Amino acid sequence: MKVTVRAYEPRDAAGVADVFYRSVREVALSDYTADQVKAWVPRRWDAEREHQRSGDGRLVLVAADEAGHVVAFIDLEPDGHIDRLYCAPEAAGRGIASQLYDGIETAAREQGIGRLFTEASELARRSSSGRASWCWNART
Ligand SMILES: CC(C)(COP(=O)(O)OP(=O)(O)OC[C@H]1O[C@@H](n2cnc3c(N)ncnc32)[C@H](O)[C@@H]1OP(=O)(O)O)[C@@H](O)C(=O)NCCC(=O)NCCS
Repeated sequence: MKVTVRAYEPRDAAGVADVFYRSVREVALSDYTADQVKAWVPRRWDAEREHQRSGDGRLVLVAADEAGHVVAFIDLEPDGHIDRLYCAPEAAGRGIASQLYDGIETAAREQGIGRLFTEASELARRSSSGRASWCWNART
């Protein structure tokens, strides 16, 4: 899957919300029970709620497929907190999260953010490479 990594735009809100929901409810099922993923994301968000979050001043990068549909996203708060990194089921395991992390790390450096941190899921802890130990080990 060929993707383009670019900054979030308001028109992406519904796509981001959809990826968030399906990523937790489907991708995270590999490591969590059905009850756990329901507790993680109890229900779908609409575009308006998503835009309230994605448009609150944080940096959001999306990966869009050739049709322009959002298939993954990452966001970074001004204090260096990576709040979310989520990939749609059809796009998982293809290096897309790693591309997004590289993009957010570059942006963080440009903004003078010297430390990145997060609360990681089991899936985000797995990566063995230095670059892609994002989330739990994402510190510069
Ligand atoms: C975590 C997540 C974003 C990774 O997305 P992805 O696009 O599949 O990740 P990538 O293909 O870029 O892989 C990144 C690294 O994770 C490893 N990885 C990805 N999926 C894996 C799996 N199912 N099992 C083992 N390793 C896996 C890759 O091998 C790679 O490691 P490497 O760079 O050391 O080789 C995705 O699994 C997801 O959306 N999970 C559900 C939501 C979630 O847990 N988000 C994180 C919250 S902190």
